[in-house]
Amino acid sequence: MRLNFSSVDLKRQGAIVVLATSNKTLCASAKALDESTGGTLRKAIGASRFTGERDQSLTIMAPHGIRASRILLIGLGKASEIDELAAQRIGGQVVGALGGSGESSAAMAIDSIKGAGLAVAAIAANAAYGAVLRSYRFDKYRTTEKADKRPSLTAVTVMVEDDAKARRQFGPLRKTADGVFFTRDLVSEPANVIYPISFAARVRGLTKLGVKVQVLDEKQMKKLGMGALLGVAQGSANKPRLVAMSWNGAPNARKKEPICFVGKGVTFDTGGISIKPAGGMEDMKWDMAGAGVVSGLIHALAARKAKVNAVGVIGLVENMPSSNAQRPGDVVKTMSGQTIEVINTDAEGRLVLADALWWAQKTFKPHTMVDLATLTGAIIIALGHHQAGMFSNNDELCDRLTTAGKATGEPVWRLPLGPEYDKQVASDIADMKNVGGRAAGSITAAQILQRFVQDDVAWAHLDIAGVAWSNTSGATVPKGGTAFGVRLLDRLVADHYEGK
Ligand code: BES
Ligand code: MN
Ligand code: ZN
Repeated sequence: MRLNFSSVDLKRQGAIVVLATSNKTLCASAKALDESTGGTLRKAIGASRFTGERDQSLTIMAPHGIRASRILLIGLGKASEIDELAAQRIGGQVVGALGGSGESSAAMAIDSIKGAGLAVAAIAANAAYGAVLRSYRFDKYRTTEKADKRPSLTAVTVMVEDDAKARRQFGPLRKTADGVFFTRDLVSEPANVIYPISFAARVRGLTKLGVKVQVLDEKQMKKLGMGALLGVAQGSANKPRLVAMSWNGAPNARKKEPICFVGKGVTFDTGGISIKPAGGMEDMKWDMAGAGVVSGLIHALAARKAKVNAVGVIGLVENMPSSNAQRPGDVVKTMSGQTIEVINTDAEGRLVLADALWWAQKTFKPHTMVDLATLTGAIIIALGHHQAGMFSNNDELCDRLTTAGKATGEPVWRLPLGPEYDKQVASDIADMKNVGGRAAGSITAAQILQRFVQDDVAWAHLDIAGVAWSNTSGATVPKGGTAFGVRLLDRLVADHYEGK
């Protein structure tokens, strides 16, 4: 979708979008249009339930007196509550409402709003960002779709008095959106297209942004002793890969230690010999969302030239049942030396991460490490589809993630860790077993991960099983792969780890 900024011009063709706040308070452009259409807006409001509350909208077709083909009036709620997310929702609503409307262009008039917590240029930049985020569509495999079923809206103009300033503020947001799209593409692809080798090949493309990409094959991982990751991979004809992507953007060479992001990249999770039921198994193509988010995040950081040293590490495997697959009861030895009894081959994410986390720390010596994984169905039972589960050894990192999550609309909720949970994963034959029973399933999984994290590393684990995919469209997230975590972690880096 094309996106432009311009000064305000209410004499345009196409759809014109104007704003109102609570109690039917029209913003300046809405007032102007009401006047030039002989009071059509007021009349339409009077005939509807539109009050200007958040997320309300009202369409006026073919208004008399102006060239526009329609006016879309959007409610913002209380002026004092307008923040970045509210501004993003404006753009998202425009694309949601007009995407398949028959209109090919829309122009939003963003006026300064008295009492808003956000300056007008920032509202405009974020409205543009929201429009772009909502416009994502994964349609490369549709070959018979009729033109009248495809989106009609191809261009959005953001009209604002200081359009140069808004365009400038939109610059880095556009780069973050590119990272989000990179992730959504990876997550949306079926598993016959994205498997470890093809995933790694796609990530190699980040070198054109200045990212250093390193790919380890099976032989190298064997040599490093990654028995847990390799145990998961051994049942599949698709060979595993471990990929590291380094973005070195820190201005101060002295502070070299990076922040590390580690992602679970199970390109398809059948469960292995502990096979999953058939119903819904197709969802397991997105069991690589953690790795997808890490890749999109590094894409975003590099594209906007973030002043940070950041490394993304992704463990890529396919979990299949076969005559070579690992069996329940097998014991694997991790790169750290610790052994794991594999009671359930479907609890494979923690096995992959055990080696990926350890290798990341040994190789890059990060001060901070955040991992993302579609790790447990239990986190969906606990938190549903609105917040990711967060587990951590560091209160400050949790506070930072919580704040960044609220600011970006990708919230995280902390759950406890504690030695009292360790008994559940005690093994009779190895250092631990890979499952701890039904009780506190997400916590025992995180508890296993923590055994592969050094005490002096600030670490957080985000269980994104409930938020990586959405079956319904939200204001700025169309249904499908959400890329939950890209915006959150991009913000975490921007607020705390850049330029220091
Ligand atoms: N990939 C799944 C978790 C998952 C479930 C992600 C639903 C997204 C949606 C993971 O590998 C898994 O199978 N976990 C098991 C663990 C159990 C065997 C201890 C689970 O949650 O059932
Ligand atoms: Mn599994
Ligand atoms: Zn899995």
